[in-house]
Amino acid sequence: MAASKIVSFTVLLVICIAALYFTIPSPSFWTGPTVINEPSHIQSQAPVFDPRVLLSAPRRSPAIPDPSGKLAVYTVSAYSFESHQKTSEIKVIDITSGLSFLITDEKTASEPNWLGVTKELLWLKEGEKGSTVLVAGSVEHVGQTHVVGIVPASISNVKLRVLETGLIAFAFTAKSWPNGTLYNAQQEPKKLSTARLYDSTMVRHWDEYVSPQKNTIGYGTLERLDGRWRLGPLTNVLKDTRLESPIPTFGGKDDFDLSSTGLLFVAKDPSLNPAFNTKSNLYFVPVQDFSATPASEPRIFETELLQGAASSPVFSPDGKSAAFLQMEKNGYESDRNRVVHIPSVSGLQASTTTQLLEIQKGQAEWDLSPSSVAFSPDGSMLLLVVEDKGNDILFKIDLTVSLTNSPSHPAALTGPGAVLDVQPLKIGSNELFISSTSATDNSFYTIVDPARPAEARMVSSNSRNGVSFGLSSEQMSEIWFQGAGDYQVHALVMRPSNFSEDHKYPLAYMIHGGPQSAWTNSWSTRWNPAILAEQGYIVICPNPTGSTGYGQAFVDGITGSWGGLPYEDLVKGFDYIKEQMPYVDTDKAVALGASYGGYMMNWFQGHPLGRAFRALVCHDGVFSMANQISSDEQYFPNHDLGGPYWESRETWEKWNPARFTGNWSTPMLVIHNELDYRLPISEGLAMFNVLQERGIDSRFLTFSDENHWVLKEENSLIWHTVVLNWINKYVGLSPYEAQLASGIDMTTG
Ligand SMILES: *[C@@H]1O[C@H](CO)[C@@H](O)[C@H](O)[C@H]1NC(C)=O
Ligand SMILES: *[C@@H]1O[C@H](CO)[C@@H](O)[C@H](O)[C@H]1NC(C)=O
Ligand SMILES: *[C@@H]1O[C@H](CO)[C@@H](O)[C@H](O)[C@H]1NC(C)=O
Repeated sequence: MAASKIVSFTVLLVICIAALYFTIPSPSFWTGPTVINEPSHIQSQAPVFDPRVLLSAPRRSPAIPDPSGKLAVYTVSAYSFESHQKTSEIKVIDITSGLSFLITDEKTASEPNWLGVTKELLWLKEGEKGSTVLVAGSVEHVGQTHVVGIVPASISNVKLRVLETGLIAFAFTAKSWPNGTLYNAQQEPKKLSTARLYDSTMVRHWDEYVSPQKNTIGYGTLERLDGRWRLGPLTNVLKDTRLESPIPTFGGKDDFDLSSTGLLFVAKDPSLNPAFNTKSNLYFVPVQDFSATPASEPRIFETELLQGAASSPVFSPDGKSAAFLQMEKNGYESDRNRVVHIPSVSGLQASTTTQLLEIQKGQAEWDLSPSSVAFSPDGSMLLLVVEDKGNDILFKIDLTVSLTNSPSHPAALTGPGAVLDVQPLKIGSNELFISSTSATDNSFYTIVDPARPAEARMVSSNSRNGVSFGLSSEQMSEIWFQGAGDYQVHALVMRPSNFSEDHKYPLAYMIHGGPQSAWTNSWSTRWNPAILAEQGYIVICPNPTGSTGYGQAFVDGITGSWGGLPYEDLVKGFDYIKEQMPYVDTDKAVALGASYGGYMMNWFQGHPLGRAFRALVCHDGVFSMANQISSDEQYFPNHDLGGPYWESRETWEKWNPARFTGNWSTPMLVIHNELDYRLPISEGLAMFNVLQERGIDSRFLTFSDENHWVLKEENSLIWHTVVLNWINKYVGLSPYEAQLASGIDMTTG
């Protein structure tokens, strides 16, 4: 959800993973295949953690264990600022030793999955003319591969399920024309005009113009004959429906599930305009034979109680029951997710068989919103990933207890950090293989038995718990301060690795986007607080009113109060730092924010707290409230500001930063990108014009090929350089790399 708001800072910090440890075993223990490639960034002398290190560090995906629980497969990509090339590899890690070996370094190879118990993998690679090639390869004979099939389009989000017949059901997502033919961008006939004509909004979404091709789900079978796998005929599940799944823009693998009984997916309600409504529904497609078309149309599951966005559909391991999440209110994307359990999918006739697990019932202290749900391997529990006070924690609920009248209280299975993915470790065990990150480690794998969560085992850390970045979890801490009302506000604190109590450090005050989002103890390649800390700042990341992970009332508190309670919380936070943290030099303070955080930079400019900072950084922020009508998802301002502009003009104008431009006087770097259709570039241009006309020290940075986020490595390096040089100059720290910025095409010198 977070990403579908005005979020830009996904991410962040606190605390330590001291409870978990691991050691690198001596290679002499290794009896498996040859170790071809250990992470090359592991050096005895850690580099200073700077933007180059951040952006070129190997990025490791979550890993999937094979059914024996001995090996796990993952991908790793890395970018080189020397060769300006990206490399991409599929690797397998030996779970016992923690050592990895290479399966393929073919550039476009992606999405590896285990082919049942065969010790063979299936992966995708780009074929000719926009097609996708399915490749199978054995981990026992690395390098021996064969083509399983070719799909004449770009496909992704592969899921496999072994069937009783020995065949493997294969599901994927792709784009499809309205007539059901898969869409292949490279085969599209040349257009004679660039015209686009719309009769209904939305016109553009995130960074793309809405087009006639829609997301769809397909399935087929994989069969092993004479030692080779073959792909059978494919079925487009959403052909002849008005449904689109995964749900754009960020929907993917989590929007559907596959079992021996069929498919489950979520799709937006086709009878409602997607710009004004969030309501989506759960659908079940029963499939008896995965080499033929389904016996019936998708069956809808609806509960009258829940009219908001549905997400995370999952089957139980036997495919007979299911679970998913849904919000109560249509139009409110940050409502609390309810957990719905469907005891029997086959007899599925909506509410009669649907059990809503009001897990927080009578448990006032558990008022959190899960972001995903899954079944435990034995089907006896639901596993929920939940944002909880700055961490993304895995919780379990015992289904056998919950289905009575007294729901069990969710119990935490993981400690500090952010859980990204949970997989069964192996056949016949209830142990879980968990992929996570933290604010100082970009990837770590652990094994947790839900019956004994305290005995979690570390399998592998990509950065040796941050050591290869020169970072330590001890750099992180947290503070709680009195908010604007009768509540405490949480903030994550990141100190430099060579922190000394006797020193005074400039302050970087980072304001997150959303606004219904939060700084968490997770890794980010975009707003990584350790990057600022290693420049010599104390970085403070507050989660004021509107932030997630502190209960629904705290989230709802920002509704109709964009520049109100959160601003007052941030004023209190700044005062707290000034009074309680002697090693922070609040006379040398800067503030940075993106998206809603950028809104807050502009709100600071117009209000007294703005004068506390020597400089501000506003990335893809809100300048004029009324301009949000040019944004894509209109339900968002409509909800947060109490209705459309013409019905709730007072609220829209009350919190409009443009009204206070007469007070703007703090130096500000404005960054705004051309493909940002969430907050169009006119917002950033307007801010820059105001700053320039008022004679305020200011710069404008823009990327023609980036959206609300800056994702490409070379662009991101420029972004980091310009940001660090800007703030460092105002607090008296040396520039990060003065030379680098000369590579920018600048017309104003
Ligand atoms: C489906 O529509 C696309 C785009 O108009 C077209 O290229 C394709 O040939 C059509 N397929 C069939 C089977 O008619
Ligand atoms: C910390 O390290 C930086 C450079 O890496 C240096 O400039 C600074 O003086 C050090 N600070 C302390 C307190 O040692
Ligand atoms: C300056 O800010 C105050 C609120 O702090 C507001 O009342 C006033 O209208 C602002 N003045 C201008 C010229 O924007």
